[in-house]
Amino acid sequence: MSKQPDIKKIVRQHLELDRFFAGTAVRTKNKKTQSQISAEPQTAKAPPSNTEKIAERQKELDKIAEEIAAAACCELCKTRTNLVPGEGNPQAELVFIGEAPGADEDAQGKPFVGRAGKKLNDIIASMGLQREDVFIANILKCRPPSNRSPKAEEIIKCLPYLKRQLEVIKPRVIVALGAHAAKTLLQTDESIGKLRGKFHDYCLSPDKPPIKLMPTYHPAYLLRNYTYDTRRKIWEDMQKVMKELGLAGRN
Ligand code: URA
Repeated sequence: MSKQPDIKKIVRQHLELDRFFAGTAVRTKNKKTQSQISAEPQTAKAPPSNTEKIAERQKELDKIAEEIAAAACCELCKTRTNLVPGEGNPQAELVFIGEAPGADEDAQGKPFVGRAGKKLNDIIASMGLQREDVFIANILKCRPPSNRSPKAEEIIKCLPYLKRQLEVIKPRVIVALGAHAAKTLLQTDESIGKLRGKFHDYCLSPDKPPIKLMPTYHPAYLLRNYTYDTRRKIWEDMQKVMKELGLAGRN
């Protein structure tokens, strides 16, 4: 006997998907964000040194950014307008990593602030988070001219800085945005279509436990292919991330 489709369930899934990509997923009333929680006065439960810990990590991240600026380690520093070291919560449980700054990012010195960045903001909001709750960075810290793909020697010089940032932040989950970031971090030639949808182990060093890494499509790809299928796949990837971080069911 053939089973009748559950119309109510299908409609609910479509509505959830629409809210996800409009960045308007329903937030639970009075729900606090991670940044609000961090800013609250310390209670008996919270470790009293949390504010100092955040400041200490921010200082370390600033020091790494200063080192990159001083190192001028590849040709890209000659053509960039601004260094784009990355920004966000120094204690973020979730880090998004893209490929390299584009024109808007180069102009402002901040990652993901152009059209793709706005889409990334929507995705973050739909996860019940704010941009300040997460950390956002790129494999390369300087814009390649005309947005060409990063060269191997540029990646080799720049990647150690990203690894040091991750050592400071200690995220529980990394989302690699797009094929370049995913392939570079996982050292594979597999396509993003094959890599996405499941967690991979990202090893910062052999003596540290691996970090869970979820590859997904780049927001710029989503803008170019704004289909139900692409949106559904990114949404499913982010739901897995939310589940891993204990955020599922909060919005
Ligand atoms: N694309 C990226 O990969 N990174 C940015 O910061 C902006 C666009």
